[in-house]
Amino acid sequence: KVTSASAGLVDKAGHRHYMAKEIHEQPEVIAHTLAHYLDPDARTVRLNEPRLAKALAEAMRLTISACGTAYYAGLVGKYWFEQLARLPVEIDVASELRYRQPVYPENGVALYISQSGETADTLAALRDAKAHGQVTIAIVNVPESTIAREADIALPTFAGPEIGVASTKAFTCQLSALAPLAIAAARARGHMDLATENKLCSALLGAPRHIVEFLKQESRIEHLGGEVAKARDVLYLGRGVNYPLALEGALKLKEISYIHAEGYAAGEMKHGPIALIDEKVPVIVIAPHDALYEKTVSNMQEVMARGGKVILISDKAGIAAAGAQVWQTVEVPEADPFISPLLYAVPVQTLAYYAAVAKGTDVDQPRNLAKSVTVE
Ligand code: G6P
Repeated sequence: KVTSASAGLVDKAGHRHYMAKEIHEQPEVIAHTLAHYLDPDARTVRLNEPRLAKALAEAMRLTISACGTAYYAGLVGKYWFEQLARLPVEIDVASELRYRQPVYPENGVALYISQSGETADTLAALRDAKAHGQVTIAIVNVPESTIAREADIALPTFAGPEIGVASTKAFTCQLSALAPLAIAAARARGHMDLATENKLCSALLGAPRHIVEFLKQESRIEHLGGEVAKARDVLYLGRGVNYPLALEGALKLKEISYIHAEGYAAGEMKHGPIALIDEKVPVIVIAPHDALYEKTVSNMQEVMARGGKVILISDKAGIAAAGAQVWQTVEVPEADPFISPLLYAVPVQTLAYYAAVAKGTDVDQPRNLAKSVTVE
C-alpha cells in the first residue's frame, strides 16, 4: 500500500514526477540488485539460499505467476528459464491461475513476482501452489510484505520505494533478480558451463552503464513522446524475449497517457492487428540486432507497406539494416542479446512518460489505478 503517506517521505530529487525520478534511478537500483545475486570478480551467480539450487535442479516444472507489470517480468523469465535451464515453464496471470485448478507436478517449483508483496491475486495463487506441495519462491521489493513472508524462499529486489503507480524501476529490478536465478537454474540442471556463466554475468553487470548511456538522449525521446501523444491507437511489436517488452510498452502507454495501445508478438500481426494499420497508427517495433531481427524486420516491412508509421527501437546495427522507410528510430546501446529486456525496458518507459507529459495527464497517479491492488 504505497500511497501518498510514503510518497511524502520520498522527494522527487529535482524531477517533475516520481516516474521520471524512478526511471533515472534504474542504473543504480539494477546495480544494487545485481550486486546481491552476482559475484562481480568471479562473474558468477551466488545464491545465498542452499535450498534454491536443489529445488531448481530437481524441478519437473516451474510455475510463474504475477499481475500487471510483474507478470511481464515473469514472461521474460519464462524465455530465460526455458532457453538457459531447459526448465519447462507454465505461466499465467495470478487472477486466472488461482481459479484454474492448474495441474501441479510433483517436485514442482512455483515463482511469484510482486513489487508490493501484497497483491491479493498473487498471494492467493501462491497459497494455492503451497497447498499443492510446490516449493514457493517470491521475488519481492518489500521484504516485510505478506508474499515475502509466506513464500518458502523470498528473493529481494532493491528498487527502493516506488511511488509512481506505473511500475518502472521495480520491473527492471525484477529482471535483475530473474536473470541470475535462470543462470543458477541452468547451472544446477547441468546446462551451463562456467565460460557461459561468466559471459552472461558480465553482460548483466554492464546493463547499468548502457542505461546511463541511453538516457543521454532523453530530449529526443521527449520529442518522440510528443508525436506518439497525437495518436489514438498505438501498436507495439516484439519477438522472443522482447515480446513481453511489447506488452509492457503498451501497458505503460495506456496506464499513464490513456492512449489505446496493444502489444503483439510480431509474428501474430498478420493474424489480426494488421487490419488496423494506416498512416495514423504509430507502430513501435522492439528489435535488437539479434537472431530474430530479420524475422521482426520482415513484419515491420509489412506494416510500412500499408502506410504504417514505424518507430524502430534497436541498436546501431539494427537501425543501419532497417532501411530508410522507417519513420523514426530510437537507438539503444549495443549489448549481449541476453540483457536486451533490461535495456529495452527503458525506451518504452521513457516514451510512455513523455507521451503522458505531452498529454498533460496525472503521470504519477493515473485515473482509476492503484499502486497496490489488495482487493480481488
Ligand atoms: C497494480 C500496479 C502495477 C503493478 C501491479 C502488480 O496494477 O498499478 O504497476 O504491476 O499492480 O503489483 P505488484 O505489487 O504485485 O507488483
